[in-house]
Amino acid sequence: MARVLVTRPLTDGGTDPLVEAGHEIVVSGDRVPTDELAKLAPEFDGIVCHLTDRMDATVLAPGRAGRLRVVANAAVGYDNIDVASATGLGITVCNTPGVLDDTTADLAFLLILAATRQASDAEQNLREGRWTGWGFGTNLARDVHGATLGLIGFGRIAQAVAQRAAGFDMDVIHTTRSDTGLGGWIPTLHELLRRSDIVSIHVPLTESTRHLIGAAELAVMKPTATLVNTARGPVVDEDALVDALEAGTLYAAGLDVFDGEPAVNPRLLTAPRTTLLPHIGSATIATRTRMARLACQGVADVLAGRTPPNLVLPAPKV
Ligand code: DGY
Repeated sequence: MARVLVTRPLTDGGTDPLVEAGHEIVVSGDRVPTDELAKLAPEFDGIVCHLTDRMDATVLAPGRAGRLRVVANAAVGYDNIDVASATGLGITVCNTPGVLDDTTADLAFLLILAATRQASDAEQNLREGRWTGWGFGTNLARDVHGATLGLIGFGRIAQAVAQRAAGFDMDVIHTTRSDTGLGGWIPTLHELLRRSDIVSIHVPLTESTRHLIGAAELAVMKPTATLVNTARGPVVDEDALVDALEAGTLYAAGLDVFDGEPAVNPRLLTAPRTTLLPHIGSATIATRTRMARLACQGVADVLAGRTPPNLVLPAPKV
């Protein structure tokens, strides 16, 4: 029997793979600060963590890892884990690919619709008693159907967004570093930004995607365009985004993720034509349970000497 730390409670049934494998599971009720994690980690064979846990070199330091053999992130994005340090220490890293694509794509589409149709502002006016009645010229927004949707990245979630866009009769284009060989591939980011009415971001956070969308990129977008981010906050330079929204050089934004979350750049809170959600892309009971089980199954696999299908490898050195 191995000992597994779950850094915050999972949904009901989430730890079943570990229970079935007969492991001792210690679930922390509260978020475990990084220095505390560093102290706890060597006492466990496996850790199931969350994207809010910083599994950096403080935790994954040579001589500090003790008996730790596997770290599973209950999320698909793993920018919170220093994978190179973990791998260097012989610790396997897993994540949750493939089980949250549709749920996250639904949320991306919700933001595409809400931001482009200005639903947040309209609802806020109603709730705050500023709605004086139906008006022919009030709450006029822009159409989603028939618009050109530009996807940055074309992994599973982006492809699920593209499927939904087909139902809205949208023209879908995408950009990736290498040619996907698929219709709608655009070789450069700027070209995609220039052509799109709505842009949705679907790349992981890495050193090369940090502030991928900054002032220069926003400047080439149409002033009538909407920007949606359900990937990771730091992919967008938030101050540049607010500048563009305030200047009217960008029409609207829909964000589910923030740089430094849960803190939200105060300028975003007052920026015009903006829908903000608290990182709920994968937040449905069914999906979170699938994510929890996949993460726990990864830990159970490693502890049983099996290679998990959801193994994360360090990025190749360039
Ligand atoms: C992830 O899994 O990376 C999402 O951001 C949360 O579901």
